[in-house]
Amino acid sequence: MNKSMETQGRDQWSSKIGFILAAAGSAVGLGNLWKFPYTAGMNGGGAFVLIYLALIIIVGFTLMAAEIIIGRHTQLNAIGAYRKIRKGWGWVGGLGVLAGFVILSYYSVVGGWVINYIVKAATGAFSTSDINVLGGMFESLTSSTWEPIIYHGLFMAITLGIVIGGISGGIEKFSKILMPSLFIMVILIVIRSVTLPGAAEGIKFFLKPDFSAINVSTILAALGQVFFSLSLGMGCMITYGSYLSKDENIPQSATLIPLLDTGVALLAGLAILPAVFALGFDPAGGPGLVFITLPAVFAKMPMGGLFAILFFLLVLFAAITSSISLLEVVVSFVVDEWNWSRAKATTIISAAIFALGIPASLSLGVWDTIIFRDLVFFDALGFLTDQILLPLGGLMLCIFIGWVWGVDNAVKEATNGGKVKFTIAPIWGFVIKYLAPIAIGYIFITGLIG
Ligand code: PFF
Repeated sequence: MNKSMETQGRDQWSSKIGFILAAAGSAVGLGNLWKFPYTAGMNGGGAFVLIYLALIIIVGFTLMAAEIIIGRHTQLNAIGAYRKIRKGWGWVGGLGVLAGFVILSYYSVVGGWVINYIVKAATGAFSTSDINVLGGMFESLTSSTWEPIIYHGLFMAITLGIVIGGISGGIEKFSKILMPSLFIMVILIVIRSVTLPGAAEGIKFFLKPDFSAINVSTILAALGQVFFSLSLGMGCMITYGSYLSKDENIPQSATLIPLLDTGVALLAGLAILPAVFALGFDPAGGPGLVFITLPAVFAKMPMGGLFAILFFLLVLFAAITSSISLLEVVVSFVVDEWNWSRAKATTIISAAIFALGIPASLSLGVWDTIIFRDLVFFDALGFLTDQILLPLGGLMLCIFIGWVWGVDNAVKEATNGGKVKFTIAPIWGFVIKYLAPIAIGYIFITGLIG
């Protein structure tokens, strides 16, 4: 197959807004609604938020632009893209495809819990605000054998159903419906939360930085969160960028996507933490914040039953627009490189990811063997992706652009050959060549040692 045939007949985003919503949809997910509020809650609130924002500006925007540039330049999947620019670099994309595969296997398990919680909310299971009862409910769901696997299968089936429709007819079409609904829902919930009596304390905790709470582990937690939340380091934005037409404005998109993602993360914090404070719960509740503390909050809140359904629906929409991007990274590789049809690739890959999710789910219940450090299989998969594959992918991306392909070539692509403004290009070049690789290299090594 020659080069022109490789890209011939490739699907594309049908509109600029379609691409932005799909990419923002990929970024906005469980990372924002589930991980961000509890990580902020556990790391000093405002102090964490401030560092997070600083890292989004320095590392987030830079790598977002970098991935979209490579994707649009090559019009290929993550592996093909690296390889096309420089032979011998395909493995970096390969790490990304592997990361997408692995992340989706456990992401989908959590997505399944969310579907189960919608059912629970709709059937009035959250009538109690007793944390022990709610904690037991969560524990009994995640540790049972069959139920979470069935919901995980349901979540994967929804993801498959969208991705099989392709870019413009599947991913873009659904993102255009799900993302605006998500914005409306999150704003409604924020209004409910911040108008509860006593919410001010929570708003203060979230927005007022306590600098004494900043230490190395806060910074590491924030950088890891930036990668995961912006879908960076695994070629997801390379893949989405590869369906972008040659005349779209990359610097603008690379600014807008992190802004939307950060906006939703902040709104999620404002939706959750003030309510947690107002109703007297612990903001450092950890991963159970959304599944245990929030149902208690809803039980105590006027019209809480309705807001509970709305909230978990919101989480589900956000999770789906992310899971489809994870699946697309793997599917586009197999379609481009192995010439499989989209239908065959999507079905077989989804089945394989579903299969990997089964032991992940079981490791929270019957198969609770520690397999690495003090981690069960589910957490070990998270460690492999968040602490190894994503930072390594991000580091190699910087080195690739800064030192192999060259900043000038990348800037030429970003500006559509000089037609589009990219005022901060010199700063961008500096960050990608020096600042970002040093910062990311540091977190990568500390994460491995830690
Ligand atoms: N950004 C998603 C979230 O915040 O939930 C997760 C994710 C999606 C990570 C896609 C990586 C990725 F490529």
